[in-house]
Amino acid sequence: MATMESLIGLVNRIQRACTALGDYGGGDSTFSSLWDALPSVAVVGGQSSGKSSVLESIVGRDFLPRGSGIVTRRPLVLQLHKTEGRKEEYAEFGHLPRRRFTDFALVRKEIADETDRITGKTKQISPIPIHLSIYSPHVVNLTLIDLPGLTKIAVEGQSENIVEDIENMVRLYVEKPNSIILAISPANQDIATSDAIKLAKEVDPSGERTFGVLTKLDLMDKGTNALDVLEGRAYKLQHPWVGIVNRSQADINKNTDMMYARRREREYFATSPDYGHLANKMGSEYLAKLLSQHLESVIKAKIPSITSLINKGIDEMEAELDRLGRPIAVDAGAQLYTILELCRAFDKIFKEHLD
Ligand code: GDP
Ligand code: NA
Ligand code: MG
Repeated sequence: MATMESLIGLVNRIQRACTALGDYGGGDSTFSSLWDALPSVAVVGGQSSGKSSVLESIVGRDFLPRGSGIVTRRPLVLQLHKTEGRKEEYAEFGHLPRRRFTDFALVRKEIADETDRITGKTKQISPIPIHLSIYSPHVVNLTLIDLPGLTKIAVEGQSENIVEDIENMVRLYVEKPNSIILAISPANQDIATSDAIKLAKEVDPSGERTFGVLTKLDLMDKGTNALDVLEGRAYKLQHPWVGIVNRSQADINKNTDMMYARRREREYFATSPDYGHLANKMGSEYLAKLLSQHLESVIKAKIPSITSLINKGIDEMEAELDRLGRPIAVDAGAQLYTILELCRAFDKIFKEHLD
């Protein structure tokens, strides 16, 4: 298991290298196809469906900007790294590589500030991702991409196009065959009207790469339950549906501790007359483990195609370095050289995983 977990960490590093190379080369084709070949989990859902809450439960930390309207306006690539034996939890941003955040309120502020830095407080959206890594003993190794919530109407101050722009941006992520879709729907709305399921159905009709998540089970009308959805009768997916009970708005206002909320969610399922028989396959901790295992197995299956792309990239970089002439003093060449070394290291580690 330890070996498999490090595979996700490895893919994380390649994703970052691809981003760096994108900055340098303005979107080199081998590296954009490598980026596309790397599996990741994209979080989709309507506004207020509970996306941020699910992400925070998976992390066990309170760190995402909140508010009404379109809060997530740039993709957030969230890389979780499980640390062993160390209690300390911290976060690092791709755009601030040397700064370690231990105060998660400052992480929230930095996400908001960095969003505005690109979108200029105009409340427009931008496809340029923010990279955030979290190191903690309470997480599983996993990469999740938080995306703007699907919406039906633009709010004041936003262009009419924003509804379509958001859908197009989200679609860009979920239509890639290697993307795993975490489709979030609230239980207190008819599943037939779910924005997440509507989009997932379009891009993944067989449901083989969609994980259905049903939030707000605690908010359903008395006397009703969501067994039709959770047992796969209302909308069938290849993977089992996972039901979730996140913190309510009142809990958030009271600053209810995330670890306490996780315990309470476990208790909710364990003692529920409706869902007791599903208790060990429900909740945010189970969801995190399920996704981590799935991501590992998908990556493992992709190793041959990933290594062949890496080798193609190595050949191209070698040729580019020859063209620039060695030794290289200029910035661009030095960066290229660093990435080349990284790719060689990736290739070696991947080959070891195949043995
Ligand atoms: P997002 O817009 O999809 O990111 O949704 P949020 O995670 O911000 O949640 C929107 C609101 O719904 C917040 O007030 C949350 O507290 C609340 N909420 C989310 N999930 C649940 C849940 O499972 N139960 C309850 N009671 N409230 C929830
Ligand atoms: Na929201
Ligand atoms: Mg949100």
